[in-house]
Amino acid sequence: MNTPCRKIVVTSALPYANGDIHIGHLVEYIQTDFWVRFQKMRGNECVYVCADDTHGTPIMLRARNEGITPEALIAASHDQHTRDFAGFEISFDNYYSTNSPENRRFCNAVYEAMLKSGAVTTRSLPQLYCGHDQMFLPDRFVKGTCPKCGAQGQYGDACDVCGQTYAAEELVNALCAICGRAPVTRDSEHLFFELEPFRDFLKQWIPAHTAPDVANKLLEWFNEPLRGWCISRDAPYFGFEIPGHPGKFFYVWVDAPIGYMASLQKWCEDHKQRFEDWWQNPQAELYHFIGKDIVRFHCLFWPAMLKTAAFKTPDKVFVHGFLTVNGEKMSKSKGTFVKARTYLDHLNPQDLRFYYACKLNGTTDDMDLNLADFANRVNSDLVGKIANLASRGAQMLNKRLDGLTGSMDAEGRELHKRAVAKADSIAANYEARDFSKVMTDIRDLADQANQYFDAKAPWTLVKTDPEAARQVMTSVLNVFRVLAIYLQPVLPSFALKTSRLFNEDAYTWEALGSTVENKRINVYEYLATRVEQSAIDTMIDASRLT
Ligand code: 2FM
Ligand code: ZN
Repeated sequence: MNTPCRKIVVTSALPYANGDIHIGHLVEYIQTDFWVRFQKMRGNECVYVCADDTHGTPIMLRARNEGITPEALIAASHDQHTRDFAGFEISFDNYYSTNSPENRRFCNAVYEAMLKSGAVTTRSLPQLYCGHDQMFLPDRFVKGTCPKCGAQGQYGDACDVCGQTYAAEELVNALCAICGRAPVTRDSEHLFFELEPFRDFLKQWIPAHTAPDVANKLLEWFNEPLRGWCISRDAPYFGFEIPGHPGKFFYVWVDAPIGYMASLQKWCEDHKQRFEDWWQNPQAELYHFIGKDIVRFHCLFWPAMLKTAAFKTPDKVFVHGFLTVNGEKMSKSKGTFVKARTYLDHLNPQDLRFYYACKLNGTTDDMDLNLADFANRVNSDLVGKIANLASRGAQMLNKRLDGLTGSMDAEGRELHKRAVAKADSIAANYEARDFSKVMTDIRDLADQANQYFDAKAPWTLVKTDPEAARQVMTSVLNVFRVLAIYLQPVLPSFALKTSRLFNEDAYTWEALGSTVENKRINVYEYLATRVEQSAIDTMIDASRLT
């Protein structure tokens, strides 16, 4: 490869420290991981950073309920999240915490720059206050009757029944969700980050850095003056206190994206790198992977914050849709709200990576995990079509022909050439995050290799012409090897076992340029196994309980 190596920083959204990772979250981490592993295989310098999102009222209250400090809660959560992500082979270069000294420093620097630019204003806001709990209540901690449609038991921000949004003070018969008592309305001074001064900048920035559907939706906000964003919260609050404002804290959504920078900074310190060379370098690239529910934070507030503080804004924000399971929203009672840990207790993580790759196409469309289709695709495509090439080829070669590859026959060489010829289009599809196209190409090539294998019937040939059979198996194994190289970003363990089978190092894209001929292969390690319906059923049952 002669193209100079790219320097790329990649992030996934920071999961809240008060919740478990579930298969919906994994849609994002898994696809980011595909992309990062692909970039690394291509020889690019790519750093994938993430962290737990640790601040805010829900975390503070949960810790209080559990009788532990927020610090203890977030430490436990960090451990659990790290284990879950490792279980799914998510290859973060740094997984940090927003409750870090680096993050506090960056927050203060960004805030200072906001102040200097004159974009911070102060005004008094009426808010619901619970005298019993002695705190202002965030919207999600108030419940009452929807002022628009009269539905009961609605939160303080929006009605689940009619879909209308409103201010918490508008709720009828509002009650504190913590103690059940009626709150009062109280005024409190708050800090606002004004967005209107960024109107022209954002109007240009948004379409250049997001997909057209995302941009169009965001630009709807521009038909009216952009409202200032409240960046402060009153004590008690678990977070960073705002310099010069005792008792006021940065709203969690201020320090969460800044956590991307803090995590990168920590990685730089640990790897003797300079933050400026990665984040501030116009030659380096920066990408955020996020879900469509948090676009506003990443494509309005965040670029404005970065711009004020003279930090580089992301090159692109990649937005994906939500996960449905069996065509519906994930549901606890149906057992389809599956936690990462529960999945790992019952099924193989590589199967979910494989299935998600087959479905992800780089758009904001929602993605369905149909459990019958999942089992079917893993069993028929991954096990039956792809892994089967290696298991049949390698096991027969080891058993009947001393584990020695020979050379490919003419037809096999042709097939191998066709497989390698797909490299550029597969790379382009990886780059475009159109993973489903990558998988279609791989499946097609596997079909061709299986046809070749079956037509040659080496299990019969080996009895009469072992050298011809050796050529067939050599061809099949070489085509399989190409597929494993293509699959490495999606199925890293599978590819690693394949490289071990051929006594090779972990693959880079350049490995496509060589073949395995006249070499001894290793013992075959199982690459993929069938998904049993009973394991899916048990996982669903377990998910109803956890
Ligand atoms: O929506 C969420 O789950 C947030 N914790 C995401 C934060 S992403 C970033 F801004 F930190
Ligand atoms: Zn209360």
